[in-house]
Amino acid sequence: MVRRINNLPPEISPRNPRKPAAGFGAVLVGVLFLLAMVACEQRPVETPSPAAQARTPEQQGKYIVLIGGCNDCHTGGYAESNGQNPPESEWLTGVPVGFRGPWGTSYPSNLRLTVNEMAEDEWVNMCLTRKSLPPMPWPSMNLMDEQDLRAVYRYIKSLGPKGVKTPQTVPPGQEPATPYFDFAPQHLERLQNLAP
Ligand code: HEC
Repeated sequence: MVRRINNLPPEISPRNPRKPAAGFGAVLVGVLFLLAMVACEQRPVETPSPAAQARTPEQQGKYIVLIGGCNDCHTGGYAESNGQNPPESEWLTGVPVGFRGPWGTSYPSNLRLTVNEMAEDEWVNMCLTRKSLPPMPWPSMNLMDEQDLRAVYRYIKSLGPKGVKTPQTVPPGQEPATPYFDFAPQHLERLQNLAP
């Protein structure tokens, strides 16, 4: 597995993420998938259109937000309800419950306000360059395709501004005034109990 990943041809780079879709592997996977579907006589589960088929940047942005798991952190109650709640009108309004770890306490920002205060180019630049606090997946976001980032911006903007700003980041070692999730691993000594 590791060897195969290392042997990927150079054109399959994060800067060029769509390339492999044209390859033989993807076609094979597609054919196998179709065969499997026919064999099971199943209809596909209803999902939003893949980015490539979305008709508008907003639809593409919604698809990326959904598969990118942005709601899991930036929308209160979403992960806990398996994505059933809250309604789309409440999505991405931020959560005032922090994530506390060695980096201090960070809060999943209200993205509805972020896009409202930022020009699209500023958003793209921030998403591609910012190195900031966990558990926001900044390393992944830094690798996103520029068109995808523009689509995400337009989708969030289309939802309109809503809600209030999340609390300021709290520096390491300071007690937050808000509720928080403790991101420090507990009982590391139990690793010894695991079978080799
Ligand atoms: C595991 C939780 C988590 C997930 C998943 C997540 N975020 Fe975040 N996000 C955060 C946290 C926490 C912050 C604050 C981080 C910081 O201060 O650096 C943040 C900050 C941001 C910011 C900075 C906003 C501002 O106004 O400064 C943007 C933009 C953002 N997230 C976009 C996204 C998008 C788009 C996705 C989905 C592709 C996503 N996030 C997924 C937790 C998450």
